[in-house]
Amino acid sequence: MAVGVNYCCTVLLILGMATICLTQKTHLKYHLQHLTGERHPASPDTQQLLEARSYIKDQFRQYDLELVINHFNTTVVIKGQEKTITGENIVGVARGDADDSVLVVGADYDTTPQQSPLENNGGGVATMLEVARMYMNSTGPGRELKRRGTVLFVAFDLNTIEYAAAQPDERYGRPGAYYFLHQWLWPFLNQSSQKFVGAIILDSITKFNTKKMSQYLPSGFEKTFPAAHERIASMGNRGDFLAMYTRTSRTSHHLTSVITASYNEGSTKASPPRLQELPVVSGAPANSDTLSMFNHQAHFHFWTFQPSAEPLPLTAVLLTDTDIYRGSGEVCGPPCSAKEFLTPSRQLVLSHIASTLTNTLLQLQTEQGISDGSTGVALVPTLALTSSLVALMRLLH
Ligand SMILES: *[C@@H]1O[C@H](CO)[C@@H](O)[C@H](O)[C@H]1NC(C)=O
Ligand SMILES: *[C@@H]1O[C@H](CO)[C@@H](O)[C@H](O)[C@H]1NC(C)=O
Ligand SMILES: *[C@@H]1O[C@H](CO)[C@@H](O)[C@H](O)[C@H]1NC(C)=O
Repeated sequence: MAVGVNYCCTVLLILGMATICLTQKTHLKYHLQHLTGERHPASPDTQQLLEARSYIKDQFRQYDLELVINHFNTTVVIKGQEKTITGENIVGVARGDADDSVLVVGADYDTTPQQSPLENNGGGVATMLEVARMYMNSTGPGRELKRRGTVLFVAFDLNTIEYAAAQPDERYGRPGAYYFLHQWLWPFLNQSSQKFVGAIILDSITKFNTKKMSQYLPSGFEKTFPAAHERIASMGNRGDFLAMYTRTSRTSHHLTSVITASYNEGSTKASPPRLQELPVVSGAPANSDTLSMFNHQAHFHFWTFQPSAEPLPLTAVLLTDTDIYRGSGEVCGPPCSAKEFLTPSRQLVLSHIASTLTNTLLQLQTEQGISDGSTGVALVPTLALTSSLVALMRLLH
């Protein structure tokens, strides 16, 4: 009988996921529509920032996430004046009920005045929202999968490091991701890294280009990432890959191997850009040109975390199109509407990343068994089930 019940639930779940796959385009477009405007503290129109904030909060609530706001004060320079302002990191908590492990999926939601609000980082935020929606819709009360560990979905405010990069002679305070980690996450983890699975950061993930020489690699890149350099150079320096910056620790390896397997497993029919791992070897510092590629995004605060005298690097992975180091193959605007922006190839990439990360969370933070409080349900690893979902998604793409 148990088999019958399980089978039925699996079919229902797959049907649920099918609905999600078919409507994903609509969801992505809807998220992006709320992220087209400039969201910078010095912007003359503050409405765009306020609207994006309230949209993200509304979505988290709709998905049944527990909404928490992490306020922080930092300094920015507005018209030459240093000003203290209050930022808002928006956190959606999906609490696990069986262990204390914690995994973060995060994206910056503010913008610099120089860049496209959809590229940096509307696409990352929209994808993070999709992961949250699909994860919540496949787990929890009445669903086949039970949330075992905790997942935190986070939209970071005020990446002051990017503002400072544009205005190097001005003094900026620390960014939102730093405050989230130090003021909010570290206490949440009871000041221990033991239960921390890692952070997956999405920062600029919509620029791809199959033209030769569309990918710029700074000097020293070949020393820090010899294997990646060889691969990219041998193929004519094309910006046709999704970069995954990682560190070479054991916990990091575990997280990235699940992400890589999910990414590649789902990609036989439609072909999203290949995933290029960029492993940073501990104790082998990159030169400053190469470091500038990956030292201003949220993952870097986890890598360089130092709560006391001793450094305590935390696992984090950055997924990115390398941003200003790449020319876009599909230039849009400005102004660029969500509809124009969401070309078939961008939609493929974003949906693929969203499915990959949802699968990653399902594998790492859930287990099979309906969470109805009963103890008789056999707990089976979710791997087999996830593979069948991937197979189905492949058909639907
Ligand atoms: C969850 O999936 C069901 C279909 O399986 C759908 O009706 C519902 O709207 C979805 N909820 C969200 C928040 O996407
Ligand atoms: C930010 O600064 C204001 C004004 O000094 C203060 O009232 C507020 O409590 C501070 N907020 C945080 C989160 O530190
Ligand atoms: C932190 O401590 C509280 C209270 O003891 C506990 O309920 C919670 O699960 C702990 N969290 C982690 C991540 O260990």
